[in-house]
Amino acid sequence: MRNFFSLSRYYRYLNPTPQIIVLDAGGQYCHLITRKIRDLGVYAEIRPSETPAAQLAAAKGLIISGGPSSVFDPESPTVDAAIFAQGQAVLGICYGHQLMAHLLGGEVRPGEKGEFGLATLELDATADPLFSGLGGQQQIWMSHRDVVAGVPDGFSVVGRTATCTAAAVAAPARKLYSVQFHPEVVHTTRGKELLGNFVFRICHCEKDWNPSHRVPIIEQEIRDCVGARNVFFFVSGGVDSSVAFALTTRALGAERVRGVYVDTGLMREGETDFVRRLPGIAVEAAQEQFLTALAGVTDPEQKRHIIGEEFVEVQERVIESRRLLDEHWILGQGTIYPDTIESGGTAKAALIKTHHNRVAGIQRLMESGRIVEPLKSLYKDEVREVGRELGLPAELLDRHPFPGPGLAIRCLCSDFDAPVRETADGWVVPVHSVGVQGDSRSYAPVLAVDRLDHAFATELINRLSEVNRVIATVASRAPVAHMQVRACSLTAERLARLRAADARVRHLSHQSGFDHRIWQFPVILIPLGTTDAPDSIVLRPVDSVDGMTAQSVSMPAALLDEMCGELLQQDGVAAVFYDLTHKPPGTIEWE
Ligand code: XMP
Repeated sequence: MRNFFSLSRYYRYLNPTPQIIVLDAGGQYCHLITRKIRDLGVYAEIRPSETPAAQLAAAKGLIISGGPSSVFDPESPTVDAAIFAQGQAVLGICYGHQLMAHLLGGEVRPGEKGEFGLATLELDATADPLFSGLGGQQQIWMSHRDVVAGVPDGFSVVGRTATCTAAAVAAPARKLYSVQFHPEVVHTTRGKELLGNFVFRICHCEKDWNPSHRVPIIEQEIRDCVGARNVFFFVSGGVDSSVAFALTTRALGAERVRGVYVDTGLMREGETDFVRRLPGIAVEAAQEQFLTALAGVTDPEQKRHIIGEEFVEVQERVIESRRLLDEHWILGQGTIYPDTIESGGTAKAALIKTHHNRVAGIQRLMESGRIVEPLKSLYKDEVREVGRELGLPAELLDRHPFPGPGLAIRCLCSDFDAPVRETADGWVVPVHSVGVQGDSRSYAPVLAVDRLDHAFATELINRLSEVNRVIATVASRAPVAHMQVRACSLTAERLARLRAADARVRHLSHQSGFDHRIWQFPVILIPLGTTDAPDSIVLRPVDSVDGMTAQSVSMPAALLDEMCGELLQQDGVAAVFYDLTHKPPGTIEWE
């Protein structure tokens, strides 16, 4: 009996079934919730909100996520109402809170103004295990328009804010709970405790999740999947493909795994040399090919398109010349959990991988299941933990994300010459930077101001419809009034200028420790300047959780001074600007 018990535990550990399932009601909140539950040591996965209750019955608890919809929209996501009657604990969050009230006979009302940002929750001191130890006032984070105006029968209100009369409700006898605020975001100071209470005190989950313990399990999965074949990867030098490659190499031995890195000539300084030093990776030189194809091109979408096409071409060539399509080989990929369709992977993730999916050979391999994705159940932080367990260098694991098309989408081009234009608020710079509103992208000019002040910039961008972004002039060789945008495309000279600036910024940001405080630090070259110095640099340090939204971050004044000093000494650089725009409305990359 003892043996049987430990064996069944072992198998569960080998292939964990989620103890908590997060029902995806749209948006990215479901990933944040799932990550927080896993951080508590409990394995959680995401399912589409409408998954039939019977398929969810094995989980110890369900969480209905937030999302951008209103229960009044005809197309809004819903859940199978049978989940409320199968004895399982359910926690609704934000939209999930409203949906539960709506489906269980309570009343939801369209909110007039909505409530966004920090609020104070007044929580009753109840004996209920979900709110155990949490009674009293606390800071929470709200993001909603509709409100629950009447709770369903059997529910009582246990928490409220100044503007939300039912911010936390409970029907303990049925193990049903919901909250209007977001316990999964850091701004809800005691959110982690609330999620911990739900997972351990209400659902009685056991701790079963520690990514660093998974190395031997993943290695076994790789061996099972690959069998006697060999694996090849296209590696990018980023965290995911490098960890996937290292794991596969450990599982199968170096002689059975090949990595190919395509040098597009659009990479950062030292990148190709860094990758070259990783064991088992061959570099495919294609710099000339990419630069030639991009010569004279200014349109951002076209740049992306060309880079995608050239990638396809190079990959086809590599596959053909190395005979990687014969039955001895399968494809390895560094896909991580948020990229998988099962987890509600984003359209963006799908887009990023498009060039891979369009390589005919790769498509054939995928369709016939000849693919191994060792990281497909892990989040980025978990991939890093696995990488640390493997002994990979921090220099590799702690790198900021870097886009596949490389410096090309940080080197702005223009197909016209045009002066800057003075307005009451600042200087309109006629480059086309990309912005995002809802799901659509826009290209619009940028406003340059003198004040490095985020609140001021946010006010301006909300008021002015003709610009996408607000940047502050932080150092310049000439007044902005004397500068102009000039027609130019991607040239080796401009790429070298950007690469050098990026290397200086990266060095200083790393040396000062600033890079640990931010998520990503794009450095952008824009064709704004003078006859002697035709380009300018824009600094864009941002904080983010997943790249879907981002905040522009302030930097210590001394560091900024040092950066500006070094950048202005560079040939061809007229000025340094600081991007003050959050996402939305400005994307992280400028394109
Ligand atoms: P945006 O500019 O849309 O970027 O706010 C969000 C995040 O996605 C990254 N990004 C890419 N990553 N290939 C990638 O691998 C791409 O084509 C690509 N485009 C954007 C961007 O760096 C940011 O982290």
